Amino acid sequence: MSEHERELVSPDADGDDRAIEGALRPKRLEDFVGQRRVREQLSLVLRSAQRRGRTPDHVLMSGPPGLGKTTLAMIIAAELGASLRITSGPAIERSGDLAAVLSTLHEGEVLFLDEIHRMARPAEEMLYVAMEDFRVDVMVGKGPGATAIPLDIAPFTLVGATTRAGLLPPPLRDRFGFVAHMDFYHPEELETILNRSAGLLGVDLHPEAAREVAGRSRGTPRIANRLLRRVRDYAEVHGNGELSLEVAQAALQLYEVDQQGLDRLDRAVLYALLRRFRGGPVGLSTLAVSVGEESETVESVAEPFLVRSGFIARTPRGRVATPEAWSHMGLTPPPDAAFGVASLFDEAGQPTTDQ
Ligand SMILES: Nc1ncnc2c1ncn2[C@@H]1O[C@H](COP(=O)(O)OP(=O)(O)O)[C@@H](O)[C@H]1O
Ligand SMILES: [Mg+2]
Repeated sequence: MSEHERELVSPDADGDDRAIEGALRPKRLEDFVGQRRVREQLSLVLRSAQRRGRTPDHVLMSGPPGLGKTTLAMIIAAELGASLRITSGPAIERSGDLAAVLSTLHEGEVLFLDEIHRMARPAEEMLYVAMEDFRVDVMVGKGPGATAIPLDIAPFTLVGATTRAGLLPPPLRDRFGFVAHMDFYHPEELETILNRSAGLLGVDLHPEAAREVAGRSRGTPRIANRLLRRVRDYAEVHGNGELSLEVAQAALQLYEVDQQGLDRLDRAVLYALLRRFRGGPVGLSTLAVSVGEESETVESVAEPFLVRSGFIARTPRGRVATPEAWSHMGLTPPPDAAFGVASLFDEAGQPTTDQ
């Protein structure tokens, strides 16, 4: 399977996305669609800080890729009328890297630290102190003669983003005054986002087409915007440029993104699970081998969405297809299919243990 196909429903940004995302990002809080709780709470945090003439509390945003964390960081700076400094966990390999950023911040600036869970451990300690006391301790000299010279830094607001909040050490998490948990979007919200993007891209998106694309976007604005661009490409080549329902369906069929947003790998995994393993249970690595993929790829790319969509359940004995998986793939389960095994599922159809 080529990279390109895989990337169509991947929540991670590719080069193409990065080039266009700047243009599609909402610039103000009021244009940010969905995530109402986060929006309202954040608005309060920002407004009260402004009223008190102080820098707002540090903000942590956690959630899967493509849901708007970077967008919100930019919005926070814009709402505060502050400038934004951007860095990321992987760029901070030593505490000196962080000291260099912190010591050059201007008063009131917003520092966006993306993928904060990937920052080097020694830098974390320095960040605690900076967040709490607006101070960095600069080490001068080496070995037993080394001394720490405290250096005041300008009050700033840290905005951290992470896809893995669980990996953050609790002392770091505790120093954020506000934690925003980003959730997957409802199809209606994705429709709104698509209509907005279509306006910015200058394409004529029919309402039924917007609904169709929204339903296949895996709850993720980045994927919605990407599918919109592919449908637009198709409409330019095969139609009159209008994005009608028929055009959207034909385009998404060509790109092999199905009604539920499953792509070719997702479907291959489901198909193997259903046909070769009679719905499981089967181990992940066996399943991966049968579709000619690395276990890692199946586990990190296909499985999370299949589980979230309710097509696959993880059980102590392996992966099991749910009744929805059989019906989605248009197949009839054998009478002895695993979801009938009482020890694996309770009456509500939920797996008895989530390994
Ligand atoms: N709530 C939203 N409203 C409108 N567009 C959004 C929203 N959230 C994300 N997007 C769009 O999705 C794309 C990805 O968002 P981004 O902030 O880069 O996600 P993350 O940083 O969480 O991976 C951006 O181009 C942005 O335009
Ligand atoms: Mg981001």
